[in-house]
Amino acid sequence: MAPAPIFPVKVGHIDDVQELRKAKPTTIPERFVRDLTERPTMATALSSATDIPIINFSKLIKGNPDEFHSEILNLTTACEQWGFFQVINHEIDLSLLESIEKVAKDFFMLPLEEKQKYPMAPGTVQGYGQAFVFSENQKLDWCNMFALGVEPHCIRNPKLWPAEPAEFSQTLENYSSRVRKLCENLLKYIAMSLGLKGDVFEKMFGVAVQAVRMNYYPPCSRPDLVLGLSPHSDGSALTVLQQGKGSSVGLQILKNNTWVPVQPIANALVVNIGDTMEVLTNGRYKSVEHRAVTHREKDRLSIATFYAPDYETELGPMPELLDENNLCKYRRYNHGEYSKHYVTNKLQGKKTLDFAKIEIDYST
Ligand code: OGA
Ligand code: NI
Repeated sequence: MAPAPIFPVKVGHIDDVQELRKAKPTTIPERFVRDLTERPTMATALSSATDIPIINFSKLIKGNPDEFHSEILNLTTACEQWGFFQVINHEIDLSLLESIEKVAKDFFMLPLEEKQKYPMAPGTVQGYGQAFVFSENQKLDWCNMFALGVEPHCIRNPKLWPAEPAEFSQTLENYSSRVRKLCENLLKYIAMSLGLKGDVFEKMFGVAVQAVRMNYYPPCSRPDLVLGLSPHSDGSALTVLQQGKGSSVGLQILKNNTWVPVQPIANALVVNIGDTMEVLTNGRYKSVEHRAVTHREKDRLSIATFYAPDYETELGPMPELLDENNLCKYRRYNHGEYSKHYVTNKLQGKKTLDFAKIEIDYST
């Protein structure tokens, strides 16, 4: 999470969605009601044959050569065609997944006054509140968020790490270090799947930036009118998403212009390619647009970890992946600059990546 923006932001009154839900208004407040074109009525439940790919991590980390090879091919297809996959056998203890989910849920269930001790200041992305709100007339997501910078320590704001629940901080430390290891490993296999040396991203990224955002989506009496989370692609290199046990199905990804729901698999983690990897691979691996929808009766919790290069890193398509049939589509830029651009704009599909796009002149 990059430094806070310096410009003043006027966001107007932002209702806390859990409090709103408790008050049970007869109509949904206007600021949450989406324009017709944005409403989540277009989602089609597709057959399991089109469910997002599954990557069996144990075949990568300790499979025999045949298993390893076929799983690397699965990974290639997943990154090229879906930008999303679910990782099973990821070697993170189930008890740790359960503990992070518990502290996250317990935090959201605290009284509002307690949570507001850790406020997300307007225009910033750490603390409790709604991120990515920059104007008074912007539509709001049906979601409460709690976000923290985790690594390196210089991006932490210790005042925002909550005293309650008591085990929150230690659990987040343990969880984050395990998720970090998973990201390092996945990036190694992703490098191999591109025919590159396993350590190329590790070397390029320096001390990777890692942040967590916990999203709590209360039920909504009119799920047809609101969005849990606006369509966006992630600014990270990789995102690891844990979906709460028993949560409603809520995450949807845009594939061939259709919103495809991601059916949770028990104990699996959802991983997606972020904008950084799309740029590095010159668009071969896709940072796919996604959003979250709400449910009439059920709530939903998700815990997203964003893993990205350090802010000093210079990014751009890797020369090894370019040739005369695959011309460079993105310019070079500094990742800190991109992060700042990302967190100072509202979520709006893949628009943030325009920052790095260059026009290709095919006439020459
Ligand atoms: C995110 C995200 C999806 C979800 O936090 O960037 O895409 O299901 N979350 O909560
Ligand atoms: Ni996302």
